[in-house]
Amino acid sequence: MQAIQNKRHTADFIFSDEDKKHLTSLLLKVTSSPFNNYPTFLAAIQRLAKSDEIPTSLREFCQKSKKRNFVEQPYVYLKNCPVDEKLPFLDWQNPREQKLLLKKTHVGEGFLVLYSELTGTPTLAYRFGGNGDYIRDVHPSKAFQKSHTSQTLTSFGFHKELPIRDTSPDFLRIMGLRSNPVNEILTTFVKNVDIINYLDEETLNVLRSKVFHTPFTVLSVNVDKTNILGKAPENHAIIDDFEISYHEGRTEGITPESKAAILKLNACLKELKKGIFLGSGDFVDFANKYCLHAKDVNQVADEVAVKQRWLIKTFNAYDIRNFEPFFVKGRYGLVNG
Ligand SMILES: [Fe+2]
Repeated sequence: MQAIQNKRHTADFIFSDEDKKHLTSLLLKVTSSPFNNYPTFLAAIQRLAKSDEIPTSLREFCQKSKKRNFVEQPYVYLKNCPVDEKLPFLDWQNPREQKLLLKKTHVGEGFLVLYSELTGTPTLAYRFGGNGDYIRDVHPSKAFQKSHTSQTLTSFGFHKELPIRDTSPDFLRIMGLRSNPVNEILTTFVKNVDIINYLDEETLNVLRSKVFHTPFTVLSVNVDKTNILGKAPENHAIIDDFEISYHEGRTEGITPESKAAILKLNACLKELKKGIFLGSGDFVDFANKYCLHAKDVNQVADEVAVKQRWLIKTFNAYDIRNFEPFFVKGRYGLVNG
């Protein structure tokens, strides 16, 4: 198949088949469910992380990964990671309920949590996102098939996750479970430092001014029945040092200059983006504050497979102490927002 977008990332770490098989067998021994009892699941993975059973190559890669310069190298890409060999198909009317009913092993989920343990970057859950789950699905749903959310069937604009919240995660990790390669659906990235180097000084000055507005997503507003989130800030800057708080298609300029700056930013994103095809066992770890990510649906040859594409993801903290003031009382790791 001829790739429409030919700028692709190359992998930073590739599991050997032997290490993958060994780690898969270790993760299959964890019998608790991350969805029914996350603390027990986490404790089992923490024990595993301390054992000398973990492949040394992975342990060393994770230590290096935590110490990397996040501005210069916001993302790392791993291939051939352990995933569940038997993966159910989920009805897109109600994918999460179907998953709880049908998914009996948690190898992919275990790998995500193991990676967070080996890098010392704990996993966060959010009360108003992903049903409060620590491990979330990226799976289309009928209700949100055309939304600006991870449940959409369509392309999805560049963004920082939770771009205007104090509790925006430091890292996102995404693992591919199922994505048919006949469809070219890519997760794309642009480094913030490259955006800053690309744009002219005048545009950068506008992007550094408080002349933008980004509403909260429909999903978080729907769940926030008691209005804890309050109103999204009336105006904010897009660029602050090397952080970029933006959601393409949702962030609006509130002056003519800011609207023009957004057009320049979008053109720059198109020029600089690079994609990763997240097939089964492909994993990407990225520093949310130092790059923007998006989804590109470039070519669809099998429409049914688009509805069955399934990734899982976690939100993670560099230093959990920064998030502690925001936790729901008695629920460590669950952000009240
Ligand atoms: Fe996202």
